[in-house]
Amino acid sequence: MSKICVIGTGYVGLVTGTCFADLGNVVTCLDVNPDRINKLNSGIMPIYEPGLEQLVKQNVSANRLSFTTDYPTALKGAEYAFIAVGTPSGNDGEADLRFVKSAAEAIADLAEESILVINKSTVPVGTGDWVAEVIKNRRGNRPLNFRVVSNPEFLREGSAISDFMNPDRVVLGSEDRKAANLVAQLYQPLRCTIMITDLRTAEMIKYASNAFLATRISFINEIGNICEEMGADVREVALGMGYDKRIGHSFLDAGLGWGGSCFPKDVKALEHMAVLHGTHPQLLQAVMEINRNQRRRAVMKLRKALKNLNEKTIGVLGISFKPNTDDIRDAAAIEIIHLLENEGAHIRAYDPQAMENARSVLKNVVLCENPYQVAENADALILATEWNEFKQLDFSRLKVLMKHPIILDGRNLWDPETVRSYGFTYIGVGRGNTTKP
Ligand code: NAD
Ligand code: UGA
Repeated sequence: MSKICVIGTGYVGLVTGTCFADLGNVVTCLDVNPDRINKLNSGIMPIYEPGLEQLVKQNVSANRLSFTTDYPTALKGAEYAFIAVGTPSGNDGEADLRFVKSAAEAIADLAEESILVINKSTVPVGTGDWVAEVIKNRRGNRPLNFRVVSNPEFLREGSAISDFMNPDRVVLGSEDRKAANLVAQLYQPLRCTIMITDLRTAEMIKYASNAFLATRISFINEIGNICEEMGADVREVALGMGYDKRIGHSFLDAGLGWGGSCFPKDVKALEHMAVLHGTHPQLLQAVMEINRNQRRRAVMKLRKALKNLNEKTIGVLGISFKPNTDDIRDAAAIEIIHLLENEGAHIRAYDPQAMENARSVLKNVVLCENPYQVAENADALILATEWNEFKQLDFSRLKVLMKHPIILDGRNLWDPETVRSYGFTYIGVGRGNTTKP
């Protein structure tokens, strides 16, 4: 049993803290957002993540997990301090390290004689060394025995707990093997591969992994766009490619492109790092350009199907950046809605979990209670997020409700022939001649 402080109680910090508590440690999760901590202390989850609420409750009841806004309380007696604060995009696409810096300064001010500082936030290569400097300078002549270890996180939203508990690997980066081994002990119960590297390599593994996954998606989207012109079906192409063990099946779903709180900012940050250091990251630039284009293409397809978008009503199914999360950061749906609005379209939308978050950014959108309300008088529907509950819609009912029976299936969720059999014009992504409006 170790005493752990987790700084930042968002998607990563809350999941990390809760899972470490569940593995038998005593964990205090700290956040500077009082609303978030009040909610957690009242048993209300500030985010939607399957399975999280029950796990939090169990560990709070067992006195292994607590929440606070008070740094001295959180750091009292802590052996490990995980930094899991946000690292959003700054002005030029570089990672903004303001929150990391203030977490490091708080550690310097309040840690007792010794502490292990673990960077779980996704941070530019070299940040671990910089955090060590920040702590050293801030601490001044008060002695502190500390080491900084990089421990990038690879969980996905929507399956965060199971990803944390069953990781493909845990990466630990440090110049001090003993420090890395101490962090490794926390992960021993997971019986997973633990890879120890130097600090900078660990930081780079995180960016390279996200950039590679984004590259796969942009690659298959480019292939999909070619398929549309050549009469091939990208879904089957991806399936056929994936049987090759060197390629594999995952992350080859063509659609509206990648969004979320990480791929967009991390690919941009890696590009920024590369340019800053004099290299020419042309593949990363193409990967981002293909992704931007994928959203514009969806709007273009709707424009083509409806002749023009001015005064047309478009229904949007799904707002979150992927299913099983309420996170709308850089969601394809949000950008597509704004592009449609710019052309004079009126939007109706529904999401199973992201309505509350959507309300604050989609001011002119009619937010509906279900897919059928979305369809009322709509000139076209676009499926932006492939939630399970959209898999088996009543297409006859939708057709009766809509003004024009046009569906753009932005995630290739449905079988084109089935949707067509109800009298719809079906437009997919990369599905050969079936995608032509
Ligand atoms: P988030 O925005 O959900 O949460 C960050 C939290 O940190 C917020 O609650 C914020 O109030 C808090 N915070 C900010 N400054 C603070 C401070 N000085 N002290 C205490 N708390 C502070 O972010 P997230 O999605 O959990 O991501 C955190 C980091 O993990 C990012 O670097 C991200 O790139 C990385 N990451 C995220 C995911 C993911 O799926 N979301 C996965 C892997 C890695
Ligand atoms: C991603 C990575 O998968 C995690 O390993 C990583 O830890 C995390 O980013 C992070 O650093 O924050 P996440 O953003 O939660 O996780 O979600 P993904 O499942 O990777 O999906 C990202 C985006 O790609 C979504 O918009 C999704 O719709 C899209 N996607 C995914 C596709 O368009 N096609 C695919 O085949 C897969």
